[in-house]
Amino acid sequence: MKLQFCKEPLDQVAQRCLVVLATRDGKTFGGGVAGELLAPFVASGEFGRDFGVILYLVKPQGLAVERLLVLNLGKSADSDDDLRKGAARAWKELRKRGYDEALYSCEGLEQPGQIRAIVEGFQLGAYQMTQFKSDKEKLKPELTRLHLHGADAHAAQIERWVAVAEGTCRARDLCLLPPNELNPISFAEKAVAWGAEFGFETKILDKAAIAAERMNAILAVAQGSVLEPRLCLLDYQPDTPSVKTIVLVGKAVTFDSGGLNLKLAALPEMKGDMGGGAAVLGIMSVLRAIRYPHRVVGLIPAVENMLSGSATRPSDIVTSRAGITIEINNTDAEGRLILVDALAYAAAYQPDYVVDFATLTGACMVALGPKIYGVMGNHQPLVDAIVKAGWEVHEPFWQLPLFDGYKELLDSDLADISNLPSTRYGGAITAGLFLERWARDYKWAHCDIAAAITEHEDEYAPANGAGAGVRMMVEVLDRVESLA
Ligand code: BES
Ligand code: ZN
Ligand code: ZN
Repeated sequence: MKLQFCKEPLDQVAQRCLVVLATRDGKTFGGGVAGELLAPFVASGEFGRDFGVILYLVKPQGLAVERLLVLNLGKSADSDDDLRKGAARAWKELRKRGYDEALYSCEGLEQPGQIRAIVEGFQLGAYQMTQFKSDKEKLKPELTRLHLHGADAHAAQIERWVAVAEGTCRARDLCLLPPNELNPISFAEKAVAWGAEFGFETKILDKAAIAAERMNAILAVAQGSVLEPRLCLLDYQPDTPSVKTIVLVGKAVTFDSGGLNLKLAALPEMKGDMGGGAAVLGIMSVLRAIRYPHRVVGLIPAVENMLSGSATRPSDIVTSRAGITIEINNTDAEGRLILVDALAYAAAYQPDYVVDFATLTGACMVALGPKIYGVMGNHQPLVDAIVKAGWEVHEPFWQLPLFDGYKELLDSDLADISNLPSTRYGGAITAGLFLERWARDYKWAHCDIAAAITEHEDEYAPANGAGAGVRMMVEVLDRVESLA
């Protein structure tokens, strides 16, 4: 989606269609003079009462646009997210009518957050994956251009938000790709290609290199697959000397069958088990565009968790990179295994902060439901920043406690730790506690985004691939200097 800013008075903007968002009682969000055309339709009841009702005017009086589309937001639009949803729905209405561009006037919109929500609504709502549809004639039009009127004062910020939302859409693409297309090898190839395109260095460790680094937990997860594992090392360096270093770690299990502890249900969703890696790649892909001033390193272990004669057996014991031994009592608790070797590797960068992203536990969805993600960590200001930024951009995160008293649930008779807690209750927390054992040398937070790959389609996110984490984390990165 390209942005185009227009400066002339709204009644002289000669685009095809102006979009206005308004509540059922006629309160508009931007739209300048166009709002006046709405009043008689509110008075007559034709504007309806519910979210989604459309008023579509041909050659609206006093305007130079050919059409005006007003979308009813319903009773009220108290939160910016109502505007995001409204803009997404309005775009879908235009798309049905064959449009490939839209005009929105921000005249009268005071708060930058509202402008952000509307622009994101268009952009995120327009997302679609069409790669595998062969009848291209039948495809719905893409949103090629968004004309923004009356937003010049915020142009630089808006361009930044658009770049971040592009990162979200790229993460979505990865989540939706089928596992025969996106496997550990092709994931690493994409990382390299993105590095060249979006301005970060990449180094890929193959199986031999992973073995040489003593990352036996990664190897253990990968060994049941015919495909070798990869560890993607991504390095963004700012143009100016960097003060801080942030390491992002992402779980990329390109397909999680469960291994010998084979999953019984919901297998197709497990193509998205690389959602953490997708978030990290998505974040890395926007740093150059927003001229981010600190070093950011991405570490993404990519594996396929399969079952075969060479697969890890429940009860196998491996020595992780950090020297901590793990009894693998359940091969379906594989995400934590690949993460801990990467977390151990992260220490070498002497990071100021480490944040990991992972579709780690079904238990996190049991605890927080399908729309809220979990966050845990050993540094409260970092966790606080994630929660605050997440709610602001409407990628809601909620903290779960790394309760000391649950550590013993991970005790193993034979090894230092078991990857399977002795109770199924509190599974998101015990997974966090497992990771914590490897994350003691730096300030760290863990984001469990499992819900992002199982959720149904909504106004501005496709099913199974919300692209969660990118918008939240870029906000946190922006505030890193004010973090303790
Ligand atoms: N990838 C899954 C977690 C998951 C489940 C993500 C559903 C998204 C939707 C993870 O590897 C897993 O299987 N975790 C187990 C851990 C258990 C065996 C300790 C789980 O959550 O049941
Ligand atoms: Zn699993
Ligand atoms: Zn998994």
